[in-house]
Amino acid sequence: MKYFCPIHLDRPLSQEALALTCAEGHEIPMEQCGRFSIPRFDVAEEREVSVNERLYVGDSLNVKYSNFLDWLFRTFRTSEVEFRKSIFERMSLAHGAEVLVTGCGNGDDLLVLSDLFGDLDLRLHGQDISNTMVTHSAGRLEDSRQVVELNVSNASHLPYGEEQFDVVFHFGGINYFSERAAAISEMTRVVRPAGKVVIIDEGLAPWLRDTEYGRMMLNNNSLWSAQPPLRELPLNAVDVCLSWVLANCFYLLEFSKDPEFPNVDLDVVHVGQRGGSIRTRYHGQLEGVAPHLRDMARRQAVSRGMSDSEYLAALIESDVARDSA
Ligand SMILES: C[S@@+](CC[C@H](N)C(=O)[O-])C[C@H]1O[C@@H](n2cnc3c(N)ncnc32)[C@H](O)[C@@H]1O
Repeated sequence: MKYFCPIHLDRPLSQEALALTCAEGHEIPMEQCGRFSIPRFDVAEEREVSVNERLYVGDSLNVKYSNFLDWLFRTFRTSEVEFRKSIFERMSLAHGAEVLVTGCGNGDDLLVLSDLFGDLDLRLHGQDISNTMVTHSAGRLEDSRQVVELNVSNASHLPYGEEQFDVVFHFGGINYFSERAAAISEMTRVVRPAGKVVIIDEGLAPWLRDTEYGRMMLNNNSLWSAQPPLRELPLNAVDVCLSWVLANCFYLLEFSKDPEFPNVDLDVVHVGQRGGSIRTRYHGQLEGVAPHLRDMARRQAVSRGMSDSEYLAALIESDVARDSA
């Protein structure tokens, strides 16, 4: 798959030796890591990082994170591989699907997709802002028989063109991305209209927050108080489905996008005394008049068999016509 300049999104990048270049002169270095040539668009380890990003920087990050996952899945009495597999099974992945995993971490999802869904010949793509994580993922995926591409980049500026993926997936880190809304918007931009964005992260189900179980979970990990990012979904998100997994401590948010959204006719006129349409009621409001004048106008409208909206429009038009006569 072609990479696109994350600054000039309409520009595909061309590869020259171990670098990608954009027509505007941007050069993105690549690093050879076993079989993988890994473009490094935005490397957290190489710049001043935000408070959130500090969590993700450090040479031993991959070790710390796999210790955490081990604890997590033992706590939820679930096999990590079985859990990840079950999530992908519910997506009904098509043969040859292009799948992007954002914030891929140690590559656990990519490994499950590669090892357990091999007969689907998926085309797998992983990105993460941490060089440590991507390098570690590359080592683990070296023997994969699937098409796998990895890059170091920021999920809020994905280096892909529009609508390149059938599924865009994220597990476990988006609550702490420095620009969560931008990352969701990017994940939506690069998914195909018939495709799916699936996001899972910490967030205790609301009905558990005031139970002893809920309080114990929240006390253990403040991240579990996070709310699913419903307000950060883009305008064109449709078929939005929210559920909870892992003993209801993680939200699972999935949606598709409809480029035609909202496909509504704003000009259908209401039957009834008020009259008007969604558009005229919103954009056609005048200043307030005294209540007795409003009541007078309504009585006049009723006596002429008109809606309020039709009566006012007629009144204004006839006044303007009189002036210009
Ligand atoms: C908690 S880990 C989750 C790893 C992985 N998704 C998994 O399932 O185990 C979060 C990951 O998100 C990455 N990350 C944080 N901010 C990011 C951003 N803005 N863009 C891409 N990756 C980011 C971190 O480097 C880290 O590897």
